[in-house]
Amino acid sequence: MKRNLLLLGFMSLLTIFVLSACATNDETTSEENSDSKEEEKDDSTMDQDMEGHMDHDEEVSLNNSTGENELEIPSVLESDNEDEVAYTVRAQKGETEIFDGTETKTYGYNGDFLGPMLRFHKGDKVKVKTVNELDEETTFHWHGLEVPGEADGGPHESLKPGEEKLIEFEVTQEASTLWFHPHPDGKTAEQVYNGLAGLIYIEDDNSKSLDLPNKYGENDIPLIFQDRTFDDEKQLNYSAAMNEDGTIGETSLINGTLNPKLTVNQEKVRLRLLNGSNARNYTFKLNTGESFLQVATDGGFLNEPKKLDEITLTPSERAEIVIDFSKLNKEDELALINTEDEDGSILLPFEVSDQTGEDSGIPEKLNDFSITEEEMDLPVSKEVELFGMMDKVTINGKKFDPDRIDFTQEQGETEVWEIYNKPDEMGGMIHPFHIHGAQFKVLSRDGEKLPENEQGWKDTISVEPDETVKVAVQFKEKGVYMFHCHNLEHEDNGMMGQVKVE
Ligand code: C2O
Ligand code: CU
Repeated sequence: MKRNLLLLGFMSLLTIFVLSACATNDETTSEENSDSKEEEKDDSTMDQDMEGHMDHDEEVSLNNSTGENELEIPSVLESDNEDEVAYTVRAQKGETEIFDGTETKTYGYNGDFLGPMLRFHKGDKVKVKTVNELDEETTFHWHGLEVPGEADGGPHESLKPGEEKLIEFEVTQEASTLWFHPHPDGKTAEQVYNGLAGLIYIEDDNSKSLDLPNKYGENDIPLIFQDRTFDDEKQLNYSAAMNEDGTIGETSLINGTLNPKLTVNQEKVRLRLLNGSNARNYTFKLNTGESFLQVATDGGFLNEPKKLDEITLTPSERAEIVIDFSKLNKEDELALINTEDEDGSILLPFEVSDQTGEDSGIPEKLNDFSITEEEMDLPVSKEVELFGMMDKVTINGKKFDPDRIDFTQEQGETEVWEIYNKPDEMGGMIHPFHIHGAQFKVLSRDGEKLPENEQGWKDTISVEPDETVKVAVQFKEKGVYMFHCHNLEHEDNGMMGQVKVE
């Protein structure tokens, strides 16, 4: 509600701003135009841009999925040899038939578009050979993974075209759904937009003993939600679509599939939701209003399943939910919708087959995550102030500088970080705040106790305008780690800092 009000105020101000800006634009002669950065853009793209800037992200609704294509499931990457967990991950260029009969130029890992799923087990000693087959620099960042700084793939770990690098780490954290994507300085948003993103599943003894649906691609389904704008040639044209305040598009892709549907048996199905968009927030809901169970946050299981009617994820956040398709009314057309859009755009229609599936249970107890009183009582030792919009975004008044260490923290030491989203005269917007190399515990929002479905490991937390969020952060490993807004344009615009763990 608070956000809606802020947004409203913001919108009316911006309408005035945009109207006058558009008027100026109309008077601009082509000569003046050619001097500016907008050189190749004609008036209509200018207008579009202005509209895009007008709103932070909720304005451009997503197109409804027609459900004509069965959802793609990312392949599972095989280890390079049998006695080791050794993967090769290549960033490469490709072409993908997203629209029938047209090849769209895309980026992918080990393929044309997006990437395979990497499965790790807790305790694994993992080797990953990373190879850059692009024509530009890139890095390989493991979002949510607790690894030493040098294996983390931040902007310092850049690989030039043709270069490769072997990284090694041990998986020490619990079962969870993580992901990987590039992180080159100033180019992260564009490379993710072009298709660089893949999934990591971590399993452990607990996840294997729980009776949750776990047949990959059958009743354990990853869903990578992304929004894009395609140009007249059905190409991804990042510089044309780019919005300094967060690039959003009207075309919804799930696992890279346009107009997807998911066919399921009459059984419980686990959906691993990843908001892989550059900037769009999603609120997931069933069109029938029926509830589902949330079982996991970014970094692990909740202690108990939490019954919900809807769940919001900001960019890079994950949640695992379970929907019981044996119970839902089969007469209804079922779909997952996004209620951030005014009319609730249809993201993923479900087709429920006649087949009864497995009878996997939902255990009452999933985990033993806890926040101790000691942690609750810790004083705040790091303050993070998120501020600004467009390319004027800062953290504690500063923009990212690769040569500046903003914070230091001791390995294994728990510290409380207080994150404040300072509004501006236009209201402000949500910033999804992410810390590398750690899963943290969220202690409070505006001093209040958290909803039960946020009482689990997190690596990204949405912070609303004027909100203060406290998190308890501990790094298991050493190194330099990024912390930043996961609105990828904000990140590229410098809303990022570095913490050195020693
Ligand atoms: Cu998804 Cu800096 O990361
Ligand atoms: Cu931001």
